[in-house]
Amino acid sequence: WLLPAFVLVLGYLLGSIPFGLILTRATGAGDLRQIGSGNIGATNVLRTGRKGLAAATLLLDLFKGAAAVLIGGSLVDGGGAMAGAMAFIGHCYPVWLRFAGGKGVATMMGVVTALFWPAGCIFAAVWLAALFGTKWSSVGGMAAAVSAPIAMTAFGRGDLVPVALALALIVLWRHRANIARLARGEEPKIGKARSGAI
Ligand code: G3P
Repeated sequence: WLLPAFVLVLGYLLGSIPFGLILTRATGAGDLRQIGSGNIGATNVLRTGRKGLAAATLLLDLFKGAAAVLIGGSLVDGGGAMAGAMAFIGHCYPVWLRFAGGKGVATMMGVVTALFWPAGCIFAAVWLAALFGTKWSSVGGMAAAVSAPIAMTAFGRGDLVPVALALALIVLWRHRANIARLARGEEPKIGKARSGAI
C-alpha cells in the first residue's frame, strides 16, 4: 500500500504548486488574488497584462497534471489516473493556500492528455473553439471539461469515464461564481482589462 499512497501524495503535491501565483509574484506583477477574479490561473494572469506569463502559467499548470499521470502510471498499475486526479485536487485545493486554489482547466487538460491523448485533442479543440467563439475563458474551460467524459465514452475508454466525469463536475463547481456572472451578464470577456477583485 506504500507505493499507491506515495503516488497519491506525490500527485497532490505536484498539483498544489501554484505556478500563476509564483510567477506573478516573482516578476513583480502583483498578487493575483487581489487582481481580476482573484483566481490563480492563466486567465487571471492575463489580466495583469503579461501575456508571456499567462502562457507560462497555462503550460506549467498543464505539465504538472501530465507529469503526475506519467510518474504515477510508471510506478503503479492504474496509478496514472490516481496521481492525475490528485494533482487536479492539489491545484484546486492546495494546502499552501488554505485550500483556495484554481479552477482546474489547465491541469485537467494535462491530466486528460497524458491519460489518453485523443481525448486531450478533443479537450483542446473544444476549449479553443468555445474560448474564441464566445471570448469567455470560463465558457471555454467548462465546455472543454464537459467534453472529456463524452470523448472518453465515444473512444471506448469507459475505464477513464469516472475520473473524467469527476474532474468535469469539480471544474463546473469551481466555476460557480463565473456561472452566476454569466447569468447576470457580467462575466468579462478575455482581453478586457478589469480592476479590483470581483
Ligand atoms: O480556468 C479559469 C477560467 O476558466 C476562468 O478564470 O479568472 O475568469 O475566473 P477567471
